[in-house]
Amino acid sequence: MPQRPYIVGNWKMHGTRAMLSEARAIDRAAQRHMKVEVAIAPPYTLIHPVHREAEQIAVGAQDCHHEEGGAHTGDISAAMIADAGGKFVILGHSERRQNHSETNAQVKAKADAALAAGLRVILCCGESEETRDAGRAVSFVKKQLKASLPDFSDAPESVVERLTVAYEPVWAIGTGKTANIEDIAEMHAEIRKLLVSVYGEENGAEIRILYGGSVKPENASEILSTPEVGGALVGGASLTADSFMGIALAAG
Ligand code: G3H
Repeated sequence: MPQRPYIVGNWKMHGTRAMLSEARAIDRAAQRHMKVEVAIAPPYTLIHPVHREAEQIAVGAQDCHHEEGGAHTGDISAAMIADAGGKFVILGHSERRQNHSETNAQVKAKADAALAAGLRVILCCGESEETRDAGRAVSFVKKQLKASLPDFSDAPESVVERLTVAYEPVWAIGTGKTANIEDIAEMHAEIRKLLVSVYGEENGAEIRILYGGSVKPENASEILSTPEVGGALVGGASLTADSFMGIALAAG
């Protein structure tokens, strides 16, 4: 059965407790739009407070460590996120890959750890502007994603429910530029083929693939109606309930 569109807000390093009123407003609005699955990933410090407030939306994290615990100053494990009420984690975001030099192997290890801790995973991939201009966007993204995907050998039947892929062209993040619809459609179709080859026809065809990169209420409808786009990963426009739910409304 096709899954509901999935609209996920990535608050990045934005938000103090003053932002809880936005989370409450998002949650109330999501209760009225059940055709769409809505979630937010605030900074770690707000995971538990949002979890306590939210009745409808899921709360998640923006990263986790691949180990269960240990001498890793400043890091957070997947089990800690789950303990705080987190239900999912965004992994392999380009800001982590760029600013923290995360490799595909590290992203895969984090994904395996998150799944083992009972979290759902949103796995990000995307090419730089240089790579796209060189005509290598599709091959780059497929290689990056393939090397980052968890294997699900323990529970292949749960892959559709527990894995989401987010395609985010790096040059479209926070810039106001969005990829053109043909390029989004081409990349999502290629990602779909990869997911089918890795997880099999049945599961690979159902895993949701989100688009991310300057999604806003004004362009959401066109992007979200593109074939194989199963939702959006939203940065800047997820910081207020009005704009974020404007995107969710466009999804269904
Ligand atoms: O995770 C979200 C993406 O990086 C997109 O951010 O909507 O601010 O461009 P943006």
